[in-house]
Amino acid sequence: MYNLLKGKKGIIFGALNDKSIAWKVAERAHEEGAKFVLTNTPVAMRLGEVEELAAKCDTIVIPADATNVKDIENLFQQSIAFLDGKIDFVLHSIGMSPNVRKKRSYDDLDYEYFHKTMDISAISFHKVMQVAKKMDVINEWGSVLALSYIAAQRTLFEYNDMADAKAALESIARSFGYIYGREKKVRVNTISQSPTRTTAGSGVKGIDGLIDFTERMSPLGNASADECANFCITLFSDLTKKVTMQNLFHDGGFSNMGMSQQAMLQYNKSFNELDHDKKTE
Ligand SMILES: NC(=O)c1ccc[n+]([C@@H]2O[C@H](COP(=O)([O-])OP(=O)(O)OC[C@H]3O[C@@H](n4cnc5c(N)ncnc54)[C@H](O)[C@@H]3O)[C@@H](O)[C@H]2O)c1
Repeated sequence: MYNLLKGKKGIIFGALNDKSIAWKVAERAHEEGAKFVLTNTPVAMRLGEVEELAAKCDTIVIPADATNVKDIENLFQQSIAFLDGKIDFVLHSIGMSPNVRKKRSYDDLDYEYFHKTMDISAISFHKVMQVAKKMDVINEWGSVLALSYIAAQRTLFEYNDMADAKAALESIARSFGYIYGREKKVRVNTISQSPTRTTAGSGVKGIDGLIDFTERMSPLGNASADECANFCITLFSDLTKKVTMQNLFHDGGFSNMGMSQQAMLQYNKSFNELDHDKKTE
């Protein structure tokens, strides 16, 4: 505990259960002295355990669908009343693709679903910031953060239309970050997190193989949800006031790897085995 968020107020979107990245962020923010409101969709509130988290963090849950501007307006209004003042940080930890859920492949997308993927996973980030800016609810030097994934830059097996949503999300962080920084001194960033076993993460086909692959390819290994929460706390704190418009990789070094020693050994081994099989045929 460093008291990094003492006196700070915030809103945390996306805690569903104790595996959620947002759940871990809420626990750490509470430990670091922040006061905040939790929010999720009414359905998630019924299915999840978010009320339990709220009790632990001495706060309330305000339902809001992050694609609905009226809900967001109501959320900010109620949050300011509950927190007794303007906000210093916002975590957008939201992602969902109906195409992934319904197992539609990238070359057979349902376009209604595709719109929903983009609205929930990317455009909602714009909506949250646009409403916040219009209502002027974020203090100067406030910090807005969303969670992304490396499929925004590189093609990864089965990530599907979520890759497009993450690319848009990161672009929104840059475009809005410029305006919000210039006019209100609010910073906007995305964290590109390692694959993590959460409810959303487990929806991605082949996630176990992917987690194993990135674990082996990264010099520091995968970053856990708890480690991601620690990183989020630093970005909400006053120690990172000039960090904005960035996509920050939090992945044990995976994003800058091409070939590892271990992977090369494995690659050569498979060819040696192939040659051996040919000779003994
Ligand atoms: N798990 C991973 O491997 C991984 C890796 C990189 C980035 N991320 C990102 O981290 C973020 C959090 O996901 P998670 O892994 O903690 O999974 P999670 O399933 O615990 O969280 C996703 C949350 O999004 C919420 N949500 C869905 N639709 C919503 C809407 N319309 N309005 C408001 N909230 C809505 C869900 O209720 C849920 O709480 C997502 O943006 C995800 O893409 C996850």
